[in-house]
Amino acid sequence: MKYKLIKDNNPKLRKKSEEVLIPLSQEDKETLDFMLFYLKKSQDIEYAQKHNIRPGVGLAAPQLGILKRMFVIYYQVGENEYKIYQLVNPKIIAFSNQLATLEGGEGCLSVDAVHEGYVHRHNSIQLKAYDYYSKKDIIINADGYDAIVLQHEYDHLDGILFYDRIDKDNPKAIKKDEVIIK
Ligand code: NI
Repeated sequence: MKYKLIKDNNPKLRKKSEEVLIPLSQEDKETLDFMLFYLKKSQDIEYAQKHNIRPGVGLAAPQLGILKRMFVIYYQVGENEYKIYQLVNPKIIAFSNQLATLEGGEGCLSVDAVHEGYVHRHNSIQLKAYDYYSKKDIIINADGYDAIVLQHEYDHLDGILFYDRIDKDNPKAIKKDEVIIK
């Protein structure tokens, strides 16, 4: 296979990724399409078991060893409703001071070990990007879980992993006014 998921022992995951040229190259389009394909397949229980992959809701290009500012989001939010983005050159342009954290902690397709503790993020963000899925420049206003997923993927573009944001001395401490998401 042309693409390979890399793990957190690979130093590439700690690098800052480069801005992407628009209009997108054929290669970048293929990468974005592969990332969406991978996320869809990872949520197909039979396929995932057969290929020994874990389910994911987001994937960033650096996780394939491609140091470009692109990530893809795919998850179901309603009976026939999905959040689907193939974002290029995303920028967080505003965020709340209020923090939020997932009650069960975070995971990552590139991290096999369990890292216990709360990952602190902004409860609301505003992000702008070019979205290859809709072929438009978009602004996303997200909060709660949606905002956390976007920030997790965004961090990959700067070489940051979720466990960097766990307070090592006090992994189970909640910040003031922080929203705990079940
Ligand atoms: Ni991740």
